[in-house]
Amino acid sequence: MSKFLSGKTCIVTGAARGIGKAVAVKYAQQGANVVIIDLNKEAIEAAAQDIESYGVSVLPLAVNVASAQELNAAFDKIESAYGTVDVLANCAGISVSKLLADLSEEEWERVFNVNLKSIFLLNNLAAKNMIKNGVKNGKIVSISSQASKIGEVGNGPYCASKAALNSLTQVFALELAEHGISVNSVCPGYVDTEMLREVLQKRSVVEGKAPDEYEKQLMAQVPMKRLASAEEIAEFMLFLSSEGANYITGTSMTIAGGKTII
Ligand SMILES: NC(=O)c1ccc[n+]([C@@H]2O[C@H](COP(=O)([O-])OP(=O)(O)OC[C@H]3O[C@@H](n4cnc5c(N)ncnc54)[C@H](O)[C@@H]3O)[C@@H](O)[C@H]2O)c1
Repeated sequence: MSKFLSGKTCIVTGAARGIGKAVAVKYAQQGANVVIIDLNKEAIEAAAQDIESYGVSVLPLAVNVASAQELNAAFDKIESAYGTVDVLANCAGISVSKLLADLSEEEWERVFNVNLKSIFLLNNLAAKNMIKNGVKNGKIVSISSQASKIGEVGNGPYCASKAALNSLTQVFALELAEHGISVNSVCPGYVDTEMLREVLQKRSVVEGKAPDEYEKQLMAQVPMKRLASAEEIAEFMLFLSSEGANYITGTSMTIAGGKTII
């Protein structure tokens, strides 16, 4: 079977674990050069070893995506290594499990800087590279959340930053359409990753429940009665990064087992 990302360069943030790593593996399985970015230096280097086993070139970079300075330096390295960027997948994200009344200004800003500002910075860097190099059908895909479409107790800045990400996605889609670059986000429901386990633990405390009782309560609200796997989300991100998705732009598709329709 032909590998449709052979010779292309794909950047994935938050790629040390969880959905980001699953996306990087999908790109590697399709033959891409993969640039993997994460805050956690040891974990991103370990992830690079795993992804290299697919026989592709991998460039691991320990970078804080909330820092413009670090991102500019990272793009210099990416351009020296590969030149052209074809795909950007924004997967890094964080949450703080607190009621709005208990949230500090610093916590509010930290979530918005990682979940939203980073995407403004990264999309601009990637688009500039794509336009300069005449990339046809460049792709930018970001992970938003079902929390962008429904409020969640104890998750205020996360919900608001992800809703703003959907809006930012539409504006980037409009501004980059003339260059053939498509910009989309995906809105997963509950995905079985370490982040979800940590969030369930902390938010169950906010809700005054035991973690397993809280998880059962959440699963009762999911029509398909199960968590998504990271691979299920990555599969759709791979499609949005493919030629088959050339005419799809500005969308924020929910992948949540039906959760947001009831
Ligand atoms: N797990 C879920 O249920 C779920 C649901 C909806 C959306 N999401 C979103 O999917 C994305 C991935 O989630 P996940 O569950 O795989 O999370 P995760 O915590 O398992 O992985 C996120 C990765 O991002 C990295 N990261 C965090 N801050 C960073 C920063 N400032 N700079 C660089 N890297 C940073 C972390 O080190 C980690 O490796 C996030 O944007 C999250 O909001 C997750």
